[in-house]
Amino acid sequence: MITGAEPYGRRFRTLRVSLINTCNLSCVYCACGQDEMRDHLALQKEKALPASEILQIVECLHGQLDLQSLRFTGGEPLLYKDLEFVVRGAAALGIEDIAMTTNAVLLAHLAAPLKKAGLKSVNISLDAISEETFFKMSKRRGLDKILEGIEKAGACGLEVKLNSVIMKGINEDQVLPLLEYAFDRGLKIRFLEIMAMGHLHEQAEQYFFSRSEILSLVETRHRITPLHRSPAATASYWQAQDAGVFGIIANESAPFCSDCDRLRLDSFGNIYGCLSSNNPIDVRKATQPQELNNMLAMAMAQKQTLKFTGSELSMMHIGG
Ligand code: 5AD
Repeated sequence: MITGAEPYGRRFRTLRVSLINTCNLSCVYCACGQDEMRDHLALQKEKALPASEILQIVECLHGQLDLQSLRFTGGEPLLYKDLEFVVRGAAALGIEDIAMTTNAVLLAHLAAPLKKAGLKSVNISLDAISEETFFKMSKRRGLDKILEGIEKAGACGLEVKLNSVIMKGINEDQVLPLLEYAFDRGLKIRFLEIMAMGHLHEQAEQYFFSRSEILSLVETRHRITPLHRSPAATASYWQAQDAGVFGIIANESAPFCSDCDRLRLDSFGNIYGCLSSNNPIDVRKATQPQELNNMLAMAMAQKQTLKFTGSELSMMHIGG
């Protein structure tokens, strides 16, 4: 076993596995244009890894890193046909916390079987609570299915958190309605500052809605007090008096690189030590534990020390 030690004392303890790099939504911050999407889908078909191979990689990584948590992402992980099998396999490896990030479009029917397979929690992306703004953000209809998915997930015992990316001029008017939706149901919600990723790599600034702008909006309704940030957490949290807890993932305003413990595996078998890195490391080429350790050290060296610097990779590829 290696510790993955590096000058800042960071270790990989959390693995994010992108199972499939396609999605059934087309959110403005994530999806690119039609032509690029067609090429992208063709590539996906050619190279996506089968479930057994993903589990093999996860087992090797767990053997080296003693992972505390594993999060399935995508693209949209509910589109991966062997998801239940992979969740069951990952849980059987003894990784304590098995989680998923999803848009929940297909969750209503899958929540219970996934819970049974060993899934503990879901982070559900929900960027709007009005149908019209939801369409502006995701270019799709079907908010009702997502809301049903959220309810079913909670009802079958999955821990549920909501993630809302806030973009200036598109959905900033949703901060308060989303907050009230979450508070009414006792759900934790986290607002995300937009990150300069994928096709927005060069133009994220125009959509940037900052942590302080989000807090100002919330303070028009609630008295809030900051809570202590847990080590390696992406979000900082606040308690709203007489209401609930909400968080902000402020990549830009309050970066959290210094104690980041995340490693990412894409759907082709490449690892990345950082969202800022566009240098895939193909772990399928490792035939000995030492080779894998060297690759993990390379991935660790990709980590930023100050803040996320932007990447041409979209979350659609590398997972959230
Ligand atoms: N900036 C911020 N958040 C993003 N997500 C996807 N792309 C971006 C981006 N460019 C979010 C998704 C999801 C989580 C995995 O990351 O909406 O909630």
